Amino acid sequence: MTDPTPAVNPNKALWEKGDFTRIAATMRDSGEALVKAIGIAPGQRVLDLGCGDGTTAIPAARTGADVLGVDISRNLVAAATARAAEERLANCRFQEGDACNLAGLEDKSFDRVVSIFGAMFAPKPFDVAREMVRVTRPGGRIAMGNWIPNDPTLVAQILKISSAYSPPPPEGFVSPMTWGVESNVIERFGAAGIPSERITCARETYTFDFGGPPAGFVDAFRRYYGPTMNAFEAAEKNGRGDALRQGLEELFASQNRSGRADATSIPATFLLVTVDVG
Ligand SMILES: C[S@@+](CC[C@H](N)C(=O)[O-])C[C@H]1O[C@@H](n2cnc3c(N)ncnc32)[C@H](O)[C@@H]1O
Repeated sequence: MTDPTPAVNPNKALWEKGDFTRIAATMRDSGEALVKAIGIAPGQRVLDLGCGDGTTAIPAARTGADVLGVDISRNLVAAATARAAEERLANCRFQEGDACNLAGLEDKSFDRVVSIFGAMFAPKPFDVAREMVRVTRPGGRIAMGNWIPNDPTLVAQILKISSAYSPPPPEGFVSPMTWGVESNVIERFGAAGIPSERITCARETYTFDFGGPPAGFVDAFRRYYGPTMNAFEAAEKNGRGDALRQGLEELFASQNRSGRADATSIPATFLLVTVDVG
C-alpha cells in the first residue's frame, strides 16, 4: 500500500518557512561585488545553485551572462523570477531543484557554477559536489561561498548561540558548516574526481547592510529566517525566547560597524572555494 501523505522534505520546509527575501535584501552589495570578483562575463552559461531570490544570479545576468538559478524553495524561485522580470532580464531564469540531484540539467553544460551560501545547506554534501562537477564543462569553474564553523563573525556566531537553545539535530545530520572546512571541501570534490591542486580556498568578507538598528536586524532574523525562527520556537517552548533574543542582540550590536543609529552594517568572513574543472 502506498503512503497517502507525501514525505516532507525538511530541507525544503526549512527554507520555505518565513521569507528569506527580507534577509537577502541586506546582502545585495556584496552579491554584486562577488559576481565581479569571480569573473562572470558576458555570454557565459552560469548556474547559480541555491540562488535564493537572485542576489548573485541577477547581477550575473546584468553582466550579459546567460543565467539559470536553481533553488529548493518555491517561494524564493517565485521571488527571483519576479525580480528578473522587473529588470526585464530575459537572460535570467529560475527553477525549483535540489542541489543533491540536478536531474534534468545536462552534463558539462555550464561555464560557471556558482553557489553562495546555497548548496552548503543541502543535506548530502558528496552528492552536491558530484552534481556541481557533473554539470560544469571541461575548463569551467565552480565558485562556492561557505560560512566557516566557529568563526568569530556573524553567521557562525548566530549558529553557535542558537544551537544552545535548539534540540540536537537528528542522527546522521551533516552540519552545513562542514563546507567551511578546507579538508572537507577537498575530500568532497576529490570524491567527485577533482584533484586537490585544482581547488583553492580563500577567506573573504561579505557585508550585511540593514536599514535599521541591530535589534531590528535581529527581529528580521527572528521573523523571516527559517533557522532562526526554529531556534526561537524551541527557545520559547522552554521560556527562553528572551534570553535568545538578548544573546543575538548583543552579538549583532558588537559586530555592527555602522556609525549611524538608523543603520547596521556587519561584515562576516566566509570561505570562497574555487574549483577548476579540468
Ligand atoms: C542563505 S540562503 C542564500 C541564498 C542566495 N544564494 C543568496 O546569496 O542570497 C540559502 C539558499 O539555499 C537554498 N537551498 C537550501 N537547500 C537547498 C538544496 N538542497 N538545493 C537547492 N537550494 C537549496 C535555500 O532555499 C536558500 O535560498
